[in-house]
Amino acid sequence: MKCSIINNQNSNYLKIIHKNRSYNFSPTWLLEHSTELCIRDKQTNQLLIEAAEIDQDLKIDKFKSIKDKLIVRFSDKSEHSYLVKDLVSSRQKVKKTLWNNSIKEIPEFNFKKLNDQLLKEILNAIDEFGFCLIRNMPTTRNGIHALTKHIGPIKETNWGNIADIKNIKKAYDLTMTERALENHTDNPYRFPTQGYIFLHCIKNSKVGGENTLVDGFNIAKQIKKKSIEKYNILRDFKTFFQYKDKDTLLDNYCSLIETDHEDNVVQVRFNNRTEIIPYDNIKRINRYTDARREFWKLIKSKSNNIVIKQKPGDMIIMDNYRVLHGRAKYKDVDNQRYFRQGYLDRDILQSKLKIMNEIVT
Ligand SMILES: [Fe+2]
Repeated sequence: MKCSIINNQNSNYLKIIHKNRSYNFSPTWLLEHSTELCIRDKQTNQLLIEAAEIDQDLKIDKFKSIKDKLIVRFSDKSEHSYLVKDLVSSRQKVKKTLWNNSIKEIPEFNFKKLNDQLLKEILNAIDEFGFCLIRNMPTTRNGIHALTKHIGPIKETNWGNIADIKNIKKAYDLTMTERALENHTDNPYRFPTQGYIFLHCIKNSKVGGENTLVDGFNIAKQIKKKSIEKYNILRDFKTFFQYKDKDTLLDNYCSLIETDHEDNVVQVRFNNRTEIIPYDNIKRINRYTDARREFWKLIKSKSNNIVIKQKPGDMIIMDNYRVLHGRAKYKDVDNQRYFRQGYLDRDILQSKLKIMNEIVT
């Protein structure tokens, strides 16, 4: 590790060269990252100073390097010590395995064997593949809770807590009919959109009703490879989704592909039933609808779809920011098909996952 203070006309900063990578740290950044007791609370690790009030003329005066530590002295005469590994550690990349219908194995778990280790494996599979299948869940009405009570609370929506998916006469959503459902993500008209879907089969129909799953991150990758222009418009064009009934009006302007600051795809949306394309100039509308047409072709393509016919007690868990799902139409004479569905917020499941990865070995 090599360390130096760089002073030039406009700036003063600390330069570290570590494992052939160069890192530059401004005085304000360094002070904000100090773990000294006057800066950060020991118990909560929260900042005690008002970072936005750090003196803009603060400078790094000198530093001392002792083994894996750096002691930095600032122009206000304060001294702060840092572990080099903390300064140079970058954001951890989460392992994502993209798939299509040639996926080797569907990530599958047996609820009857549930313990901390299995729960950790379930949450990691959801994070890596965007879905998993749990066998042998209780086939009771609120059987979903048997698993979710170990993760966190079900998200309440205008449809309540755990909702029925059943063919009913006065359907307020097309899920409540025997009709096929095209691949989609749930509720893009809601902000934030629910993070995870727990789809629990209590009884399935004899004919039809298979579920399809598509890896939206893989679709985004495929369209990017085919046409960067189409990928860019799907990322940049803000379309509009809306849900309306007599008591509820939910709407959201958002894109079909959402990325982070490094252009990593973090969310895919598609919901033909509730999209209301907003007014825009002809050129942009044509570019968007052309790109959406290509996007849909890939979503529909057999090679990208896996098909699962759930048996009673089977529950599919899906990352609603990544995986699209659909359903084949079904016919069931006695109207016995009965599924239940619950949602979990993204932060709830992610928090449990991170904590379990730290403590369950
Ligand atoms: Fe759905």
